Amino acid sequence: MLSIAVLISGGGSNLQSILENIDSGKLKACEVAMVISDRENAKGLDKARCRNIPTYVVDRKTGSEKFSEEILHMVDGKVDLIVLAGFLSILKGDLLTAFKDRIINIHPSLIPAFCGSGMYGIKVHQAAIEAGVKYSGCTVHFVDEGTDTGTIIHQRIVPILEGDTPEDLQKRVLTEEHRALPEVIQWIAEERLKLIGKKACLTEKK
Ligand code: GRF
Repeated sequence: MLSIAVLISGGGSNLQSILENIDSGKLKACEVAMVISDRENAKGLDKARCRNIPTYVVDRKTGSEKFSEEILHMVDGKVDLIVLAGFLSILKGDLLTAFKDRIINIHPSLIPAFCGSGMYGIKVHQAAIEAGVKYSGCTVHFVDEGTDTGTIIHQRIVPILEGDTPEDLQKRVLTEEHRALPEVIQWIAEERLKLIGKKACLTEKK
């Protein structure tokens, strides 16, 4: 059983999709052991509370180093995987070492486009539309010391249509996020990801 900590900052629609995929049996041999937020009013916390999943809030104002250490204490020895699902703070220090290649993030663009420091939320989709690209999407990647620089695991693509607003695009990408994140979690549960240099390769199902 793969034990997961899901880290959120907002609505938690990606958390919801993980939970629903577990409920429906599409996501097998996984459990969400805890949900951690860096904002006490994150709506996603209720999605965990109503299922009696333990929730914790860290104070992001204490700074990345401090709350990353706090998170390490919460997860150490209790979970196998940390999933950043709309978590807006940057993780640092020993947490990254202790959970090397065991922290994944979902970003709402096709990395390396429209990512990095300050690129989050609606800004990502505004930038994609302004750049005139014809396709966008989402990326699931491992988390390293940089911002959105870790090894790419999976991407799903959506078209950008004539007259799309950033909100239209955000909605279309979010639908794909809800597929991409459970897919990657399943691959990790099945131990099908192999890291070769800077590349993540998906191996055959055993
Ligand atoms: C998503 O687009 C995610 O990629 C981004 O935050 C957004 C909100 O996610 N990092 P959620 O509804 O809170 O899961």
